[in-house]
Amino acid sequence: MIFCYLLCYLQLVFGEGFSPNVRYHAPHANASFNYSYVNLKYLKGHKLDITPLLAITVRNRTHCVRKCLSKKYVCQSINTEKVSEVSWDCEILSSDVYNNPGKLISHPEVVHSVLANRCLKSPCKEGERCIPDYTNDSYSCHVMSCLGIKRLEPNSPSGFYDVYINGGYKKLYCEMEDEGGGWVLLGNYSVPATNIRPRIIYGNLDQFEQLRNGDFLLDNKAYLSILKDWIDIKEFRFYCHKVSTGRTIHVMTAPQTTWGAYIHDYIFGKVDTPSCNPNCESKGVGEGINALPDDNSFMSSVGIGSVGWGLSEYRLYDGPFFRGGPNGYHFLLNQNRQDCDDEVQPASQATWRFYAR
Ligand SMILES: *[C@@H]1O[C@H](CO)[C@@H](O)[C@H](O)[C@H]1NC(C)=O
Ligand SMILES: *[C@@H]1O[C@H](CO)[C@@H](O)[C@H](O)[C@H]1NC(C)=O
Ligand SMILES: *[C@@H]1O[C@H](CO)[C@@H](O)[C@H](O)[C@H]1NC(C)=O
Ligand SMILES: *[C@@H]1O[C@H](CO)[C@@H](O)[C@H](O)[C@H]1NC(C)=O
Ligand SMILES: *[C@@H]1O[C@H](CO)[C@@H](O)[C@H](O)[C@H]1NC(C)=O
Repeated sequence: MIFCYLLCYLQLVFGEGFSPNVRYHAPHANASFNYSYVNLKYLKGHKLDITPLLAITVRNRTHCVRKCLSKKYVCQSINTEKVSEVSWDCEILSSDVYNNPGKLISHPEVVHSVLANRCLKSPCKEGERCIPDYTNDSYSCHVMSCLGIKRLEPNSPSGFYDVYINGGYKKLYCEMEDEGGGWVLLGNYSVPATNIRPRIIYGNLDQFEQLRNGDFLLDNKAYLSILKDWIDIKEFRFYCHKVSTGRTIHVMTAPQTTWGAYIHDYIFGKVDTPSCNPNCESKGVGEGINALPDDNSFMSSVGIGSVGWGLSEYRLYDGPFFRGGPNGYHFLLNQNRQDCDDEVQPASQATWRFYAR
């Protein structure tokens, strides 16, 4: 299921409600361009939600297509919406769904159309991303995610890999063993035995190599949604361990559950904490988050109480879930606090890791 992502996606996007090979004739072929027609692929009920190059009102859809044609190589797709019998909203877009994954949204009144292109036939392997080139009717295939790498080559070891994100390659650390592998490591923080806690570096998508130093967390506020669009994050995995207590929290989100979905929305900043937070014990035991075999935490045994601390901009790290109350069993990492199934400071010889796939 997961691995038919690209194929299914394209089928979903282009397979239905689609008029193949519709020819729209431009006024004539003599202008400063050579398109006399263009093949468009329709996607009804969808809009590519990016800033348009041009937003105009036109008489009909053909008119909008002609506007697109007049911007050969620049116009890559259009959004059209009928406003009345004689009036349409027309958005000329200088990019497409391939270069803006995650930006295609449902919109009942809008028809999104892309220029016919080689990627429509899904020429790349599963796990690869196809990017069309309209100027010479070609395409290129790109490594899509850690999960894509795992799919392409199941024996791939954990390590740094180049993954195509947001128009270029970024070096991601892929963890290839746990729970089927294909995880991207988002954060790695360790307090050594010396008990000198390193200051956390909240970095960007070009800085993942800093993970090696055990003091790096991706700035989730600025970059997680970009990563989500490109690697299609569906699950998070959280790990922490303290030598002093001998306890480990190791859990995975279950996004198909109500609370699992809530935690995802919370992490991505779409919702805030439930109004009863903090400490309202809003969740049931084990709901939304599942413990993995090496988890021996009190938190997991009694059940996670609450979603989100809600005070930090670094929601992925700073208490995305916890068990509150008199004896707090927290999962919480920030510059001041390093809780792992406890609320005891300071931490020494402890590790936190954050993964997504
Ligand atoms: C296109 O160009 C040709 C040759 O230059 C000319 O004969 C024809 O009338 C032009 N067509 C239009 C629609 O301008
Ligand atoms: C259009 O195509 C014709 C024939 O292929 C070519 O001679 C002409 O230079 C092209 N014009 C432009 C503006 O690309
Ligand atoms: C669409 O609009 C164009 C430009 O205004 C007009 O020339 C054409 O006749 C219209 N087509 C239809 C089918 O209404
Ligand atoms: C198409 O153009 C791109 C960029 O200009 C180039 O990298 C690619 O090799 C070309 N592909 C073909 C098939 O000519
Ligand atoms: C995480 O940091 C520790 C140092 O604290 C380092 O030994 C380990 O290799 C790092 N993990 C990765 C995947 O870079």
